[in-house]
Amino acid sequence: MVNSETVAGCKEDQKQHFFEKVSNFYCPFNFFLQIACKILNTCTFFPMQGTEFMIITIASLKGGVGKTTTAFHVAAYLQSLANTVLVDGDPNRSAIAWSKQTTSPSFKVISEKQLPKYGSQFAHIVIDTQARPSNEDFADLVDTSDLLVLPSPPTFLDLQALVETTEVLTSIGCKKHKVLLTKVPTNTGSTDERDAREFLEEQSIPVFKGRIRFYKAYEKAALNGTPVNLVKGDRNAAIAWADYKTVIEEALEEVYASGKV
Ligand SMILES: Nc1ncnc2c1ncn2[C@@H]1O[C@H](COP(=O)(O)OP(=O)(O)O)[C@@H](O)[C@H]1O
Ligand SMILES: [Mg+2]
Repeated sequence: MVNSETVAGCKEDQKQHFFEKVSNFYCPFNFFLQIACKILNTCTFFPMQGTEFMIITIASLKGGVGKTTTAFHVAAYLQSLANTVLVDGDPNRSAIAWSKQTTSPSFKVISEKQLPKYGSQFAHIVIDTQARPSNEDFADLVDTSDLLVLPSPPTFLDLQALVETTEVLTSIGCKKHKVLLTKVPTNTGSTDERDAREFLEEQSIPVFKGRIRFYKAYEKAALNGTPVNLVKGDRNAAIAWADYKTVIEEALEEVYASGKV
């Protein structure tokens, strides 16, 4: 039996609880997974690199807002800090498909069914979710995540869907969510970002200071199966990567300051 006192600061119980939750969430009738969770629970070897682990979930009620792109880049950046796994919770398996384009992904991408087998090996777990999770799914994700990132382009329709999402989260008492403005227009005349920020402030919805701008380089990255920083011959690729780096550093500061990890 894992003894949390023997590995100081390590949150095995919470992690185990997380594996069970995610397994139940995606696959409620799969007894095999439940057995795998029990085996993990009795395993005495947790090969974690540090003494802590972090769970960042990317969620939204709407598709096409940049969830998978965000999950992929968050995982790529976190992998540069410590062993990271991206859990593809979307039935379309878009993150797995993305990672299969390349022969050398820098981090592991797994399905939620593989989580009981591999999850304990990682210091960071990033979860890409399907669009339209139910209220119960949200409650489970809130329970198990250190931070919920809600990507949204700064358009009226997207912001409307976002308000719906935050209402669900607020109704279940979530204080871990933060909006990430994505696909922000790069033309200097656009007021979309400013308008979106004003709107979110009026609604008291927390939002990252950093934002992800719209660059074609992301499509090339998806085609290559790499993060955007590895796209060759596009001068915006480095700028696009810097956008994600800024946001992830902001997210990490928040998670560490909150004492959640
Ligand atoms: N910042 C961005 N700039 C340009 N295109 C983007 C950006 N983020 C995502 N995309 C593109 O938008 C589409 C949807 O993104 P995706 O991450 O798959 O959304 P979701 O997972 O929410 O459905 C993809 O073609 C992706 O390449
Ligand atoms: Mg997706």
